[in-house]
Amino acid sequence: MPETTPKGLTGLAFGGDYNPEQWPESVWTEDVRLMREAGVSMVSVGIFSWALLEPAPGTYDFGWLDRVLDLLHANGIRVDLGTPTVVPPVWFFRAHPEALPVTADGRRYEFGSRGAICHSNADYRAAAANITTRLAERYADHPALALWHVHNEYGVPVSACYCDSCAAHFRRWLAAEYGTVDAVNEAWGTAFWGQRYGGFDEINPPRLTPTVGNPAQALDYKRFADATIRENFRAERDILHRLSPGVPVTTNFMTALSQCDSIDYWAWGREVDLVTNDHYLITDGRRTHVNLAMAADLTRSVAGGAPWLLLEHSTSGVNWQPRNPAKTPGQMARNSLAHVARGSEGAMFFQWRQSRRGAEKFHSAMLPHGGTDTRVWREVVGLGASLDALREIRSTRTVADVAVLWDWHSWWAQNLEWRPSEDHDARERADAFYEALYDRHLTVDFAHPEADLSAYPLVVVPALYLMTEAAGRNLTRYVEGGGTLLVSYFSGVVDEHDAVHEGACPGALRDVLGLTVEEFAPLLEGDTVRVTGPDGTGLAADVWTEFVVPRGAETVWTYADGPAAGRPAVTRHRLGEGTAWYVSTRLGADGLDAVLARAGEDARVPARPDLPRDVEVVRRAGGSGSYLFVINHTGTDAKVPLDTPGTELLTGESAAGRIEVPAGAVRVVRLDG
Ligand code: GAL
Repeated sequence: MPETTPKGLTGLAFGGDYNPEQWPESVWTEDVRLMREAGVSMVSVGIFSWALLEPAPGTYDFGWLDRVLDLLHANGIRVDLGTPTVVPPVWFFRAHPEALPVTADGRRYEFGSRGAICHSNADYRAAAANITTRLAERYADHPALALWHVHNEYGVPVSACYCDSCAAHFRRWLAAEYGTVDAVNEAWGTAFWGQRYGGFDEINPPRLTPTVGNPAQALDYKRFADATIRENFRAERDILHRLSPGVPVTTNFMTALSQCDSIDYWAWGREVDLVTNDHYLITDGRRTHVNLAMAADLTRSVAGGAPWLLLEHSTSGVNWQPRNPAKTPGQMARNSLAHVARGSEGAMFFQWRQSRRGAEKFHSAMLPHGGTDTRVWREVVGLGASLDALREIRSTRTVADVAVLWDWHSWWAQNLEWRPSEDHDARERADAFYEALYDRHLTVDFAHPEADLSAYPLVVVPALYLMTEAAGRNLTRYVEGGGTLLVSYFSGVVDEHDAVHEGACPGALRDVLGLTVEEFAPLLEGDTVRVTGPDGTGLAADVWTEFVVPRGAETVWTYADGPAAGRPAVTRHRLGEGTAWYVSTRLGADGLDAVLARAGEDARVPARPDLPRDVEVVRRAGGSGSYLFVINHTGTDAKVPLDTPGTELLTGESAAGRIEVPAGAVRVVRLDG
């Protein structure tokens, strides 16, 4: 069994990407001195250093990296060592121009940025294996080495290449998946628009077409691209396992960012020894701490509930959004500790020292351009102390209340063209349901639709358009066994090939929901409808309505107006020991809360009306004890009731009856007993 925790790291991880190659060596001694001052325990090194490590083909210069690792080791700082395969040197691309990826419309990218790689390219694969082997041979036994960091953020900025090598690779992949070309024809429905293929050699990637292409082909290409990138990760990982046993191997994920929607992290979670994640606040006007919590919950779920590690976030503003606000005082610590509350074994940043040159010089860092006499530096030092005070929570696990189903394949399928309404966005529904659960102070595990759900009293299905028959049976079993299911519209519609399930919609779910949907009736842009509840109160909805026909389900909310006026809007179906709810329209926050309140009663999930909005309360528990994290995202002091007395770890004070959390602050109580 490979190791799953960074070797030799005794506390929580605290540090960041360290790029000493951007600085004269005279700066390095100051770097490590300040790292010690801040309590840095681990740094990520060498992620983009291939051109320096192999300046010409077969010529290596490891001297500088030796000195960096020795210096870090001498100062007690552990190293997360990168394989630099995300940016091959320019000489490599000049020798192998076809290793640069090609877009769907046939244009080839040029060298000069990062992450421009055709993952099917045999020369790239050989060169990546070679540099990885050299690094592993040289550093496997280096005393600073704690963790291997393969590549960087697979899947961005290029998620798929459409070149001729990829075409050949795609055909081999299809042959392995389907066996015969007839099976491909069947799965892709090529009888439609005369797209039938006579042999695998006739199939290409879904390149530029005049109008919409075959959706099942596009979906399979997503799967193929993800599997191809994963092959390259595995190749590097296997080299590292062989040459550097005892040191865990990771690659940094970006689980919840919609910019990185090309990776099936359920599959990737099984490949890495330790799940690590990068998370940046997206400033789109929404509550950033909710998206952060969602990313952390999703990352933990991809790790199967095991501890994981936040490998990158920012001390303050980033520089790649249209507008990049600085974090407010205290926000960095709240962000870092919210990740820790939800299972991260530390908090790492991009990057240690803010760059003077290059594309990221306006991105914040642990050590800003302004040096140590800055707010950011003072907060960094404070965070280092906080993480040190929390070290005993290592290896405990976050305790979840409910599950939300999540599947990247469904998301890929949902995002294909020619749907009933372009205003429906599966990711928007996932965010909205998550936010509604967050506001009810429920901690969420995400789960694959075919996973065992029996541990959860409530399972929410935000908009899972693609659902296999096996997933449908899984949900039926879950409800029959006593679970409460809450399903949003446009779920369970198609199978794994984007083919509509046989019979009335929603094929995978009609039995468990006790209804059929006769027609989708999406609304025009800006139109809204009202739905009326059992007590006569109305809720607003938009984007989507449906003609729902109950077949065993009872109607709880009814459309008051709009195309479906008089028909069921929200239904409830008793099946076996459990209950299945269906929401056939896009409810706003109030509506989701009202439905969740009802479904929550069926599920007997705790209602927590005494907790103020935007005060996040999460529990980690395990061998060393039970810990309550309370994160106050508001500008007002908060009081949170405590069932059990305990000791607050950041202040050392004892707490009983309730814990007071000043505006913007975080408290972590070790509960007695
Ligand atoms: C990450 C990336 C880092 C850095 C950071 C800036 O996606 O891995 O290298 O670019 O973004 O926010």
